[in-house]
Amino acid sequence: MAASREVVNYLGREVTAKLPAPEMVPGLIQLTDRDAAIWQLAKDYLKTRDNDAHCLYAYGIANALLSQIPEAQENIVLPAILIHDIGWSTVDERENLEAIAPDKDGSRAHLIIQHEKEGAKIARRILTEVGLPASDIDEICDIIDGHDSRLQPISLNDSLVKDADKIWRVTPHGRRVVNDWFGLNDEQSLRLCAFRAYNELFTDAGRAMSRVLVSLACIDQTPQLSKTYRPKE
Ligand SMILES: [Fe+2]
Ligand SMILES: [Fe+2]
Repeated sequence: MAASREVVNYLGREVTAKLPAPEMVPGLIQLTDRDAAIWQLAKDYLKTRDNDAHCLYAYGIANALLSQIPEAQENIVLPAILIHDIGWSTVDERENLEAIAPDKDGSRAHLIIQHEKEGAKIARRILTEVGLPASDIDEICDIIDGHDSRLQPISLNDSLVKDADKIWRVTPHGRRVVNDWFGLNDEQSLRLCAFRAYNELFTDAGRAMSRVLVSLACIDQTPQLSKTYRPKE
């Protein structure tokens, strides 16, 4: 037993010294100092359903979109996506789910508007406290106000926020959360989410990301994958 603990991997030797340094690797992200300060003030408002984790994952997706669409502005897109759903804190959690259910009847459409409008108000307070420029705050709050109900984007920055929000649905976290919300199985939730997270996107980069995620989710569900080779212990 003692000998097997010394073997750190199949090779039996340490290889981490040869890994690339983090700064050499494209795409490794974390929250900027500015966005960490925003998060600190916003996170308690996002503890409804899974909106805190949803916003963090969507922030990651928005970062990836920004890397492919340099004309968009990170100082607008990143704060906006990070707190876009902050207004759900003003809506009863059960009513919140009824408002977005696949079989919704429209009777709670006003709650969608409420989470957008109240969210913009809370966002303005937080972004002012963090000290963002007034023009950035105006643009971010305009994006948050209407981010779900407004069907067409008001700017390229808004397009990235909208796409990151929807692409989250086809991430592993998004699909798991949607399963739980509506009692769907993996196949059903993927069908529900993949429809919107492609047909309703506004950027080519977003559509490409969504396709990769949906394809991987489909492979997760193939009967062939469950029978792939596993080395014996
Ligand atoms: Fe929303
Ligand atoms: Fe959202």
